[in-house]
Amino acid sequence: MDPVTSPPGAAELAEFAVELAQGAGRLVQAGRQTTLAVSAKSTASDLVTQVDRQSERWLVEHILARRPEDGILGEEGGERPGRSGVRWVLDPIDGTVNFVLGLPFYAVSVAAEIDATVVAGAVCNPAAAETYWAWLGGGAYLGDTRLAGPGTTELAAAVVGTGFGYDAAHRGRQAEVLVRLLPRMADLRRFGAASLEICNVAAGRLDGFFEAALNRWDYAAASLVATEAGCVTSGLHGRPGSAQLFAVAGRGLAEAFFAELEGVGADLTRPG
Ligand code: IPD
Ligand code: CA
Ligand code: CA
Repeated sequence: MDPVTSPPGAAELAEFAVELAQGAGRLVQAGRQTTLAVSAKSTASDLVTQVDRQSERWLVEHILARRPEDGILGEEGGERPGRSGVRWVLDPIDGTVNFVLGLPFYAVSVAAEIDATVVAGAVCNPAAAETYWAWLGGGAYLGDTRLAGPGTTELAAAVVGTGFGYDAAHRGRQAEVLVRLLPRMADLRRFGAASLEICNVAAGRLDGFFEAALNRWDYAAASLVATEAGCVTSGLHGRPGSAQLFAVAGRGLAEAFFAELEGVGADLTRPG
């Protein structure tokens, strides 16, 4: 693949994204010690807490204090238009169900886009004290360590992550896809925080990941971490990874993995 040229300012946006994700990560971690006010959003399994909202408010305040002309899209606060051409895409807690349960696998995800292309991103798991980050053309890192993706090339040896949406009808179809997929690979994992699962592919800890019906804030930052680590992302059938279906794998597995996902109708556009 041709080397990507870094847009001007992308490295600085990445540094700021790390600062933001880690700062909100500290707030989220402190929030675990408080009494959580948990409420349901779209369905009974789609949860939000006061800490999700505090984390997003903290992120928005810090972005606007430093860069008042930027736009923002946040899961809990919606869209705020900007004038600078830079838009921040925020998931203030990815993996809220894990956060509520006390399972240490949740993250703050912060991406910076220029003209709808993610140019910088950071994903901080405060419970594990791990921050993944990347900028376009500049590589992907876990802390100071440069990431290079997984080396697995055989589907039968691949351990792949996935996730389920919050809509019951959708979840039934996602389960049917797994019935067909599971016998064809080594194993499956469902950790409950899409951003971290995608970053774990970048780190070579998982061989691939796919999920239908994600939102842009779930994968915006992590997708850049993965591609900068040399991984391939896809939405299947020649489409780029999107909210409809986001799939990622190491370069050596991607073709076979994406073909398999197409075969089992993982993007839910065709009958399984
Ligand atoms: C969710 C998590 C989960 C995935 C869901 C997402 P949230 O994000 O990433 O792993 O399966 O599709 O919505 O609601 O915890 O921010
Ligand atoms: Ca999320
Ligand atoms: Ca969230």
